[in-house]
Amino acid sequence: MKKWLWIFFLLPLSACNSSASDGRWYTTAQLETGKVLFARHCAACHGEQAQGLAKNWRKKDADGFYPPPPLNGTAHAWHHPLPTLQHVIQQGGVAQGGRMPRFSGKLSEQEQLAVIAWFQHYWLDDVYRQWMQRQTVNAQGGTP
Ligand code: HEC
Repeated sequence: MKKWLWIFFLLPLSACNSSASDGRWYTTAQLETGKVLFARHCAACHGEQAQGLAKNWRKKDADGFYPPPPLNGTAHAWHHPLPTLQHVIQQGGVAQGGRMPRFSGKLSEQEQLAVIAWFQHYWLDDVYRQWMQRQTVNAQGGTP
């Protein structure tokens, strides 16, 4: 999807979603789905609470690969706008020399959004706010 289209997607969601959780873009229903899917598909690598399992996610392991980073807002997942996060989940990291498997074909687009919602619910409001600000910049043509 084109970058600028996301502003139309995010703004209405954050403004008028009656079942939204804490004023964030996702709904409590998405969180419930995301919780189950995250435990099933992501937790083995990224940790039960998206906290990451490696002592240092910035350091390559003995095989020369970066470990799965935390997704709970303490690493840099919050630098990525929503479409980029979804892209990583769809494509994985193998093509870029990483080890994350691809989930396109395994999780539907709605399910991908639900797992993002789930790991984002760990983000502190401050982190979430900075992430939202970056979305707006990106939607106006900034670099991701
Ligand atoms: C086999 C282990 C493994 C599984 C399973 C896995 N990941 Fe990953 N993930 C990684 C690794 C390793 C990286 C770092 C990039 C790479 O090496 O591909 C990563 C990177 C990411 C990133 C980018 C983070 C950043 O800070 O840039 C996101 C987002 C992500 N994973 C989400 C998920 C989600 C959501 C799931 C479940 C649907 C999942 N991953 C399942 C190993 C995994």
